[in-house]
Amino acid sequence: MVLWEIKSIYIYILLKSFSIVMHKTLNFDSNCRALIIGASGGIGSSLPAAIDRLYGTNDIVEISRSTDGLDITNEESIKNVLSRLDGEFDLIFVTTGALEINGIGPEKTILQMTPENLRAHFEVNTLGPALLIKHLHKFLPKNRRGILTVLTARVGSIGDNYLGGWISYRTSKAAVNQIIRTSALEIRNKFKQSICIAMHPGTVKTKLTQKYVGKHPSVEPKQAAINILNVINELNLSDNGKFFDWAGNQVEW
Ligand SMILES: NC(=O)c1ccc[n+]([C@@H]2O[C@H](COP(=O)([O-])OP(=O)(O)OC[C@H]3O[C@@H](n4cnc5c(N)ncnc54)[C@H](OP(=O)(O)O)[C@@H]3O)[C@@H](O)[C@H]2O)c1
Repeated sequence: MVLWEIKSIYIYILLKSFSIVMHKTLNFDSNCRALIIGASGGIGSSLPAAIDRLYGTNDIVEISRSTDGLDITNEESIKNVLSRLDGEFDLIFVTTGALEINGIGPEKTILQMTPENLRAHFEVNTLGPALLIKHLHKFLPKNRRGILTVLTARVGSIGDNYLGGWISYRTSKAAVNQIIRTSALEIRNKFKQSICIAMHPGTVKTKLTQKYVGKHPSVEPKQAAINILNVINELNLSDNGKFFDWAGNQVEW
């Protein structure tokens, strides 16, 4: 009798663990459609495989400057490229951005800041995503869950800034965070089941970071894409308009 009970408990634990592994709750299935803007980038180009791996879909539209001539700082260019799309997308990603523009790297002091560089960062990292959100959110599903994820950066957090430096990049990311928050509140009024978030992908080995990553712990783009998907999969409607990092922790503004 005792032996039988021990065997039953053992079998129960085995089955339970198996079912936990097998049934991670997925919020999308293989019918979901994804749209990636900035698909030529390190992180953007790694997302399709991660989406396919988690949800089993390859209905993924990839758009980039290199392939499609999209210039996110030009509204006509955005309208033109997006006019080729139709239907709804369950998952929309904005993965564009720049740290070094026109050969100028991040500033170490405000004395290195120039009007040209600050403007250039606002063009690519703030205006670009703002125009994209303006023209992309209409593709979110009307009657089911949809998620618009915009990659920003933890260094755009004002509350979390204890190091200084990188003033143009930081400021352009802080500004885009406000744009994401503000748009998310409006998007929710039109798309009741949609969520729009700002996401810090972690330090990732891409072209953007290659000169600056140094000894800072970093991950491969493939891993970053998996991390992003895992966070997105767990989001609730109450997470709309928030700023998350790659591990699912909320980042202060
Ligand atoms: N890597 C990191 O450690 C890290 C950390 C924090 C935040 N982030 C953020 O994550 C995002 C993606 O970074 P990443 O590391 O994947 O960068 P990346 O490999 O350098 O890719 C940047 C992407 O942005 C596109 N892009 C830049 N300017 C554009 C413009 N004017 N019009 C259209 N597309 C433009 C590039 O297009 P083309 O290549 O086609 O020209 C490329 O697809 C950025 O917003 C970045 O700030 C990255």
